[in-house]
Amino acid sequence: MTRSVVLGCGSYLPQNVVTNDDLARRVDTSDDWIQQRTGIRERRIAGSHETTSTMGLEAARRALDAAGVKPADIDLVLLATSTPDNTFPATAVTIQAELGIEQGMAFDLQAVCSGFVFALANADSLLRTGQATRALVIGSETFSRIIDWDDRTTCVLFADGAGAVVVEAQQGTGAMTDRGILASKLRADGRHRTKLYVDGGPSTTGTVGHLRMEGREVFKHAVSMVTDVIEDVFAATGYGAQDIDWFVPHQANRRIIDASAKKLGIAEEKVVITVDRHGNTSAASIPLALDVAVRDGRIKKGDLVLLEAMGGGFTWGASLVRW
Ligand code: ACO
Repeated sequence: MTRSVVLGCGSYLPQNVVTNDDLARRVDTSDDWIQQRTGIRERRIAGSHETTSTMGLEAARRALDAAGVKPADIDLVLLATSTPDNTFPATAVTIQAELGIEQGMAFDLQAVCSGFVFALANADSLLRTGQATRALVIGSETFSRIIDWDDRTTCVLFADGAGAVVVEAQQGTGAMTDRGILASKLRADGRHRTKLYVDGGPSTTGTVGHLRMEGREVFKHAVSMVTDVIEDVFAATGYGAQDIDWFVPHQANRRIIDASAKKLGIAEEKVVITVDRHGNTSAASIPLALDVAVRDGRIKKGDLVLLEAMGGGFTWGASLVRW
């Protein structure tokens, strides 16, 4: 049986740190309000020379190094992003070319904050069906370029960054104790599409547009959606909350993360949290958090790692990975 095994991960954050106090000098907000409502203390904002492809490229290079894999061995570059360099071509082909990869395929996938889970599940399908052998799955976002910096209800939440993993098709017995992606479940419900959206685009306004959000509506649905899809992943694998070594949720908001973990019965010390330092980096948030927890020694080979995300669309999904 073929399974998609994670060989290594990497991440990249822009140098420029923006604290809550920095934002309070620009809009009517406070460090207290932001920390209490979201858990965010600071975030990184891309410099004028940085783009989704430059950040994704650096995260990809670090993931390749960690995996001990050369670009020549990659035949799939799958980038999750809602903030591409250009409307087309896909930003993934820029990263592919910069890495010197001439074989295989490269494309972008757009599922907003759920993008990384969607990309990982799609890469897993392509690897298991033999259409690729080794994939770079990247999440990279430059949300600072679609934020309305005068809107205090959104500008305090979102930020920039990138993360990546290298995933390889390997033969195994099919046992749940073997390494690899054990199961993924993806969902979307477009009836919620106007609760978190960008008010521009190539075929409507011809502009990039700005992010708009009904924060309370998002909050109301987030916990039940992510816990439902996690229960589906548990049902597909026979595992439960007590078996999880690490829970690496999308880093949108500390309150959503805590409420989801509590509802599922996942112990607090098993939850990886980086939202305090990175803010919500959309599709980049899970690989960023993974990279932090792998490099500080928490996530180790053989650990059972649960990933989940929910975002604009709404889209939502979960993956259970034997690391
Ligand atoms: N600073 C100070 N006050 C603020 C700010 C701010 N940055 N933003 C809003 N307020 C005010 C509002 O204007 C409102 O004032 P009013 O009562 O005078 O009208 C008051 O705070 C309460 O506003 P609410 O929107 O009800 O605040 P809430 O407690 O719901 O918190 C928040 C807002 C943090 C956005 C919350 O709804 C939330 O976390 N939603 C989820 C959003 C999210 O995480 N989205 C990410 C994308 S999707 C995903 O990744 C899961």
